[in-house]
Amino acid sequence: MEIGELGKFAEDLARGAGEILRGNYGRRQSIHYKGEINLVTEVDRQSEAYIMGRIRSAFPDHGILSEESPEIRSPSPYRWIVDPLDGTTNYAHNYPCFCVSIAVERKGELLAGAVFDPLLEESFTATPGKGAFRNGERIHVSATENLRQSLLATGFAYDVKTSRDNNLEFFREFVFTGQAIRRDGSAALDMCYLACGRFDGFWELKLRPWDTAAGLLILTEAGGVATRLDGSPYDIHQPDILASNGRIHGQMLAVVEKTKGEPP
Ligand code: IPD
Ligand code: CA
Ligand code: CA
Repeated sequence: MEIGELGKFAEDLARGAGEILRGNYGRRQSIHYKGEINLVTEVDRQSEAYIMGRIRSAFPDHGILSEESPEIRSPSPYRWIVDPLDGTTNYAHNYPCFCVSIAVERKGELLAGAVFDPLLEESFTATPGKGAFRNGERIHVSATENLRQSLLATGFAYDVKTSRDNNLEFFREFVFTGQAIRRDGSAALDMCYLACGRFDGFWELKLRPWDTAAGLLILTEAGGVATRLDGSPYDIHQPDILASNGRIHGQMLAVVEKTKGEPP
């Protein structure tokens, strides 16, 4: 299958799984706790079973890394990276901000990304070199030049209550240096909102490959930039990310650098 078709398949999967999320939204969920505040619902699992089932029947030899299941390793160069429900805490509280995130890579290179928000019916997609799209329309990052005028997004990991490395210092500093911050609870949507110019910058400390794989391709194809917090190259296997429209990237890195230098 060529890259364009893989992209269409990824989008179709994300839309199909999104229908499962939408259909069950607002119903009482049976919740299982993976940690004190880290939960998984029956719907995460239903969405994952749907996505994995379709990948397995279309591409029986491909690997799959999906959040709620052990990784399916394969000698194939192709691997799917899946978050069947990004924003589970929101979903469980009936807060309408969540999505499905699906990417496929070949030998570690992202070939297609699809993020679908089933409530707003927004489908963000990208393939390398072909640009990024929202419901088929080309999207671009914002033109904001100054951190002071920037709407930023971030999130907190599930160990926020027990880890010293909890993002609160950076949050405090960006409250003072940016225009405003949103913490909306779906890292994949945060990256897509950055890609289409709603946000100007985004950072988080402890993300996993399924949170960022699709969003990273969508963001870079929309003209955005992603590094680690120290400015070194970012890839989806790194925990920390600082992403922006490119124009405010240096200003955000400077805030991080200054904050790290300060005593806690
Ligand atoms: C979480 C969300 C959230 C981010 C967390 C993620 P989940 O994913 O993306 O925005 O702050 O770090 O773990 O658990 O809802 O799939
Ligand atoms: Ca996630
Ligand atoms: Ca998830």
